Amino acid sequence: MASQQLSTQFLKAIQNRRTVYHLSNKQILSDAQLVQLVQQAVREAPSSFNVQSTRVVVLFGKQHQNYWLKIVPDALRAVSGEAAVEASMDKLKGFAAGSGTVLFFEDMNLIKGQQEAFPTYAANFPVWAKHASGMAQAYTWVLLEAEGYGASLQHYGSVTGETLKRFYQLPESYDIQGEMVFGFPETPAGEKEYIPDEERVIMFK
Ligand SMILES: Cc1cc2nc3c(=O)[nH]c(=O)nc-3n(C[C@H](O)[C@H](O)[C@H](O)COP(=O)(O)O)c2cc1C
Repeated sequence: MASQQLSTQFLKAIQNRRTVYHLSNKQILSDAQLVQLVQQAVREAPSSFNVQSTRVVVLFGKQHQNYWLKIVPDALRAVSGEAAVEASMDKLKGFAAGSGTVLFFEDMNLIKGQQEAFPTYAANFPVWAKHASGMAQAYTWVLLEAEGYGASLQHYGSVTGETLKRFYQLPESYDIQGEMVFGFPETPAGEKEYIPDEERVIMFK
């Protein structure tokens, strides 16, 4: 399976992944195709001891709108007051203008199971669950953008997680990790500055 071509293509795909905020809801894939894409990303993402604790909910259309225009503003209002909602509303409307949102959760029941099964690593499993979620998020983000979407990663879950569980009757053990907004990219990502590679990756031999 190894090939120069595959690695070049993979590198291109990860270079193409950027944070894109200016989105519309022009269709690229069908909803079913998009869900299948996310399923494949989540399926292939590694997890500690292969626990496969990542769980995902994809919101489209009205549900996506309801999240950004109702659930998030209501949660911000409850925690920080109306001024916080007003300060965020333009940004939230920008997210709502996209096609959908991928909600990433970790099923903490499975993490608890790991802690019981391997007490030596008990403190590490919740951290590794976050690593695993990040890997599933990265795969999803790269694949979405390889299909022509723009996407950004958001974190309102600390104030919306409980509401989401009630609203969609998700298991109590689901712990939200992040929300990936996607849509048609109306404006590409701007320039990005990079720290020199040699500062970040060194070697010894
Ligand atoms: C763990 C993590 C958390 C992030 N949280 C947010 C966020 O809450 N809101 C946001 O707009 N972008 C968020 N981002 C996006 C980063 O700001 C962005 O990836 C970074 O500036 C590099 O830009 P790029 O994505 O275009 O390469 C997050 C990225 C990562 C990896």
